[in-house]
Amino acid sequence: MAVKHFLTLKDLPASDVLAIVQRAMELKQDPNKAISQARKTLGLVFEKSSTRTRVAFEVAMNQMDGSSIFLTSDASQIGRGEPIEDTARVLSRMMDCIAIRTFAHSTLEKFAELSRVPVINALSDDFHPCQLLADVQTFMEHRGDIKGARVAWIGDGNNMCHSYINAAEVFDFQLTVACPADYEPSAELVEASKARVSIVRDPVQAAKGADLVVTDVYASMGQEEEQLDRLQAFDGFQVNPELMSHAADNALVMHCLPAHRGEEITLEYLDGEGSVVWDEAENRMHSQKALLEYLLGN
Ligand code: CP
Ligand code: NVA
Repeated sequence: MAVKHFLTLKDLPASDVLAIVQRAMELKQDPNKAISQARKTLGLVFEKSSTRTRVAFEVAMNQMDGSSIFLTSDASQIGRGEPIEDTARVLSRMMDCIAIRTFAHSTLEKFAELSRVPVINALSDDFHPCQLLADVQTFMEHRGDIKGARVAWIGDGNNMCHSYINAAEVFDFQLTVACPADYEPSAELVEASKARVSIVRDPVQAAKGADLVVTDVYASMGQEEEQLDRLQAFDGFQVNPELMSHAADNALVMHCLPAHRGEEITLEYLDGEGSVVWDEAENRMHSQKALLEYLLGN
């Protein structure tokens, strides 16, 4: 049987992705229910920084009696130029699953092509599917089914936005993306999901009646030099009480974190009563555990 990878939300059947989220909710209630992964090893190959994704994977493996090995490019031969293809051949002969955080999405695809074991996208420049498992879990916990919900994305058409576009298809919700002209998501992705996704310039138009409003930093990892230009370009693209006054009455606000308070989001949606951002962060662990259980099986 072909090895299953999770490079984007669309790599697995939609029903399986929903089942992973439902399983995450079960595992949150009873962490001991998870299928043992004793003697299995998860490789974590991270070429960018991480707090949540790394810790979520390590804790999840630990709770299932498996182990994980964390590798950065500097601490491995990747940083000295060993081809990713060779790294894939070698690591996948020793490990049972490998999660990779990298820059170009094609690096993940090359790795997966030669890997004998499942490969998980722990974030690339183009997608962040693990975050979406947690976001959908959080929405379902607080509001029930996300099918048919109205979701607003405010800000950059980045990796998170791309995964929201995929999620609109997989979980069947309506997504309105508000972004400046030069920061639109991939036209190809939008075209492929045009029944569920629309692009607007005005954040208020996107937020109107939304059940969920989501944002992310103006400059992602690898775009640090663009920070000042982006601060100008994204002026007005902020999740704040004025914008939220246009959303549905009990609308949720999410942010994958780390956040820049006072830039893309004001502090009440992080620090205030009713903030679901911390549930969202916690759910990274439950949903990644459910994902590992699905990919590793028993
Ligand atoms: N949201 C997220 O992926 O966080 P980290 O960069 O800390 O892993
Ligand atoms: N868009 C952000 C997400 C961080 C979790 C980045 O890629 O840096």
